[in-house]
Amino acid sequence: MQAPWLLEVEGVTVSFGGVTALDGVSFRVRSGEVLGIIGPNGAGKTTLFNALSGLVSLARGSIRLSGREISRWTTHRIAQGGMARTLQTPEIYTQISLRDNLLAAILGRSSASLYGIALGLRPAVRREAQAREEAEDLLAHSLLREDADRTAGDLPFGHQRLLEIYRALTNDPRVMLLDEPLSGLTREEADVVLDLIREMRAQERAVLIVEHDLPSVLAIADRILVLAEGRVIADGTPDVVQQDAGVRRVYLGQEPIATDAAEQGGVQP
Ligand SMILES: Nc1ncnc2c1ncn2[C@@H]1O[C@H](COP(=O)(O)OP(=O)(O)OP(=O)(O)O)[C@@H](O)[C@H]1O
Ligand SMILES: [Mg+2]
Repeated sequence: MQAPWLLEVEGVTVSFGGVTALDGVSFRVRSGEVLGIIGPNGAGKTTLFNALSGLVSLARGSIRLSGREISRWTTHRIAQGGMARTLQTPEIYTQISLRDNLLAAILGRSSASLYGIALGLRPAVRREAQAREEAEDLLAHSLLREDADRTAGDLPFGHQRLLEIYRALTNDPRVMLLDEPLSGLTREEADVVLDLIREMRAQERAVLIVEHDLPSVLAIADRILVLAEGRVIADGTPDVVQQDAGVRRVYLGQEPIATDAAEQGGVQP
């Protein structure tokens, strides 16, 4: 039996002044599924993530997360409701250790407890102890455990990306949105991030990954959604999408779309 739909996006339209960034975008994602989202610069990929996470409002359309309409929810409520994201540029605290970054993310879920900890209030202190345990647990199973005490800003860029994903995981999201998680990484670093994505899939999360590195996204995704000028021009398995005439037109000179990039073996866009 197939898993139920976790995320259902229907007719999502977003305009900025006169520019229609997304125009009637529809697709669905099941738990345990990795959806690759590709398309040329300016296609609307980041805008789609902004719409899903509540950062921009919809002109039209609906977004359901586990059956609940979330398109008018605040970013905070959407995060609590089970959707997390990373940004095109990693968002971490560079001056503190990797462990403290995770701790801050866990404690950040309830800002009141931070005051409580400062005041030494007993429930807050208990909460901090719990948070430390949670952070240790996450670290113990993470690919970053060796680096826990290092200052985050001193970590290689690939590890900073991993840290950002782990920070988003502290919310235990059902749906994870990753915006260009491989950009700027070496091949080895990219492989570590891809392993983490496989792990998230095994944990029955849905992972949406926007990525310009086509060979990687074609290799890891169960399904590919192709956006161009704010519209979905293809939605299918990597094999089917690569053969699609419309997709080939968008990626002219790269036929079939993965081959050239694969031969270059590069991760950088
Ligand atoms: N806040 C904004 N205000 C005005 N226009 C915007 C805004 N955000 C995005 N756009 C426009 O919407 C369109 C889609 O942009 P978006 O950033 O979503 O593309 P993208 O697919 O993520 O591109 P890239 O691959 O370069 O990251 C572009 O024409 C962009 O200029
Ligand atoms: Mg973008």
